[in-house]
Amino acid sequence: TMLPRCAFSVCHVFVLVLCLSSAEDIDWTKNDHSSFYYGTFPAGFSWGAGSSAYQTEGAWDKDGKGLSIWDVFSHKKGKIQQNDTGDSSCEGYHKVKDDVSLMKELKLNHYRFSISWPRLIPTGIKSDHINEKGIQYYDGLIDQLLESKITPVVTLYHWDLPQVLQEKYGGWQNISLVNHFNEFANLCFERFGNRVKYWMTFNNPWSVAVEGYETGEHAPGLRLRGTGAYRAAHHIIKAHAKVWHTYDTQWRAKQKGLVGISLSGDWGEPVDMSNQKDIEAAERYVQFYLGWFATPIFHGDYPQVMKDFIGRKSVQQGLGTSRLPTFSTQEKSYIKGTCDFLGIGHFTTRYITQKNNPSGRSSSSSYFTDRDLAELVDPRWPDPGSEWLYSVPWGFRRLLNFVKIQYGNPMIYVTENGVSEKMLCTELCDDWRIQYYKDYINEMLKAIKDGVNVKGYTAWSLLDKFEWDEGYSERFGLYYVDFRNKNKPRYPKASVQFYKRVISSNGFPNQREVENWRRKAIETCSSSNQLLAADPLTSHMEMVTEIVVPTVCTLSILLSAVFLMFLLRRRN
Ligand code: NOJ
Repeated sequence: TMLPRCAFSVCHVFVLVLCLSSAEDIDWTKNDHSSFYYGTFPAGFSWGAGSSAYQTEGAWDKDGKGLSIWDVFSHKKGKIQQNDTGDSSCEGYHKVKDDVSLMKELKLNHYRFSISWPRLIPTGIKSDHINEKGIQYYDGLIDQLLESKITPVVTLYHWDLPQVLQEKYGGWQNISLVNHFNEFANLCFERFGNRVKYWMTFNNPWSVAVEGYETGEHAPGLRLRGTGAYRAAHHIIKAHAKVWHTYDTQWRAKQKGLVGISLSGDWGEPVDMSNQKDIEAAERYVQFYLGWFATPIFHGDYPQVMKDFIGRKSVQQGLGTSRLPTFSTQEKSYIKGTCDFLGIGHFTTRYITQKNNPSGRSSSSSYFTDRDLAELVDPRWPDPGSEWLYSVPWGFRRLLNFVKIQYGNPMIYVTENGVSEKMLCTELCDDWRIQYYKDYINEMLKAIKDGVNVKGYTAWSLLDKFEWDEGYSERFGLYYVDFRNKNKPRYPKASVQFYKRVISSNGFPNQREVENWRRKAIETCSSSNQLLAADPLTSHMEMVTEIVVPTVCTLSILLSAVFLMFLLRRRN
């Protein structure tokens, strides 16, 4: 949502000279069919799909759950497309069995979900009250997964902060959240850690900081431009480190799990590869995005370029200190190395060019102007769903290689990758999603051949669901959810058939087979599509009966009344 919908024509020819040391050179830049790489993933590669609590669970006020900032935000008029809310969403809270069977159908190795903090601790403060019913729900989900041989991969914070912590402390603007989050995490390790071995502290903190505290498009909806995002991020990084240490000292020996974080990052490619300024601007784009969080976690401090740019601008704005907070020496060594694996969420790419933003007054400063760059897109890039989501598979491989080089080849799990569609009608033949997955997964395979240590992949998402400020208008699911129907039935899209084949072959065996998968997937979906197409009619009829029945009753009562009055009058 960050980019105005203007298409820039990019008419440069990009030549990237790459010296791959491996014998098996795979064409780096081209994205035509001849560059598709047929081959399989390393044995034991883990295939999964993902979701998050607020986006799928529903049951927002059931069984003692406390309010989250998203419950409150989505109930305010004008914040979400169509004023949608996550009140019932996919009713995931009541459909654990159904959803686990969908995962079995896909033959998933892992399932990524998040735990709702206010469902376990309604006020967010552990000493207040623990909601055992909430614990039971996640116990059930975890047990069902394990029974089905699906590894649970758990995110502790996917944006649904307890509302009380927002009201009392100002949410992530306040340092006290570090301890409250640590207590919540500790509770999760204590109750679920015997069965859960993959933990992620935060999901996409970039979004929390920028959209929650800078632009206000997301909960809690604050617009603290130029400072809010940096402060939120600062506390989130500290909270992450603290939780990692808690696990490391108190649980690791016994539970033998891993604790990481899930960061998101678009790739930024220089518009003009021969222009040093563009190359630096593109580097800045990625450092301000992924590097903002990854650099402290792997190297102990913010990227130098962030310190330089924000620091310089703060001085020019007459501020005594940088708007980017600083870590003490002690904090740096405490934060450095707090990551057993790195989760990467990736969806899209931008072309980047250098653009100077005059520093101006500090009131006009923002995260965006601090970067001194402009984002561009190639109008030829496919753009099937969300406005910001252009399909640029080669950017994925570049990002993964960037991670390898910058952070010392860490163990990577791809925690999110996928594409949406805008259509609200019943369209199960998602050919473009098959194309997206095929090409992005293939670029990931090439990255592995480059030597990037990717251990698993998580398709985003298992189901259509609440897409934050976009409500239900953008569908990311492998399974279609009929939100108009109270039961929220799920229907497989064609991409389910395709992804299933990728999983069972652990990659792409050869062209003939892969083309076959695709053809078959589209064939089966056109028949199920017809079935589903009948559906809206039935639900429409139900709706009409609901309206008609009371209306007929009311009408007859009215008519009889009029008739009675008429009779009475005549008597008089
Ligand atoms: C990243 C977020 O973590 C996830 O919740 C969201 O659905 C996707 N982006 C798609 O916008």
